[in-house]
Amino acid sequence: MFTFGETNSKKMKKIIAFSGSNSSQSINQQLVNATAQMIDGVEVIDLRDYDAPIYGIDLETESGIPANITKLIEKLAEADAYIVSTPEHNSLIPAFLKNILDWMSRTGAKPFGEKPLAVLSTSPGGGGAAKAAAVLEKVLPYLGADVKGVFNLPAFGSSFDAENTQISDLAKKEELQTLLSEI
Ligand SMILES: Cc1cc2nc3c(=O)[nH]c(=O)nc-3n(C[C@H](O)[C@H](O)[C@H](O)COP(=O)(O)O)c2cc1C
Repeated sequence: MFTFGETNSKKMKKIIAFSGSNSSQSINQQLVNATAQMIDGVEVIDLRDYDAPIYGIDLETESGIPANITKLIEKLAEADAYIVSTPEHNSLIPAFLKNILDWMSRTGAKPFGEKPLAVLSTSPGGGGAAKAAAVLEKVLPYLGADVKGVFNLPAFGSSFDAENTQISDLAKKEELQTLLSEI
């Protein structure tokens, strides 16, 4: 039955997007910003606003879960889907990102709530941080993410138009668009 206040239109999906970099010049954050222009309903957050000390069991026993981690879990709960772009440090995800994931895992929460998530990655080299993205793809389901796919952007310097803040490699842009339609 139609009641006052209801509409027939579908509620727009809210997507939270962030990069796993703590660099103010992050190319992954630039990729996230460009991706946010390709799909409706995206809120880009800066993971540096949720930084926490390096995880240690002694610190956890003494001080509990850092307030920023609780704040991030609450923030993530607002979304229906996620986009996460990771840099690659020595073939792995950066310690900055791993640390935040480690803290979140200690709460027992499933911060990604079994909701769809797209893993992205980029680097200046030809690998496009694909190894790190593959690690993230494996880890995030433990935090409740329903990973729908992975997109790597190699050679950021030539495949991204920094001036116009968009992917300049059109085949790669189309590949990303396809993945975004999955989340
Ligand atoms: C400690 C360290 C290790 C790195 N290891 C890799 C690597 O294994 N593979 C790669 O493609 N780039 C590597 N890089 C280069 C990063 O891809 C580059 O710094 C990139 O800008 C990081 O992404 P961001 O700007 O989003 O932080 C490394 C950089 C640092 C600082």
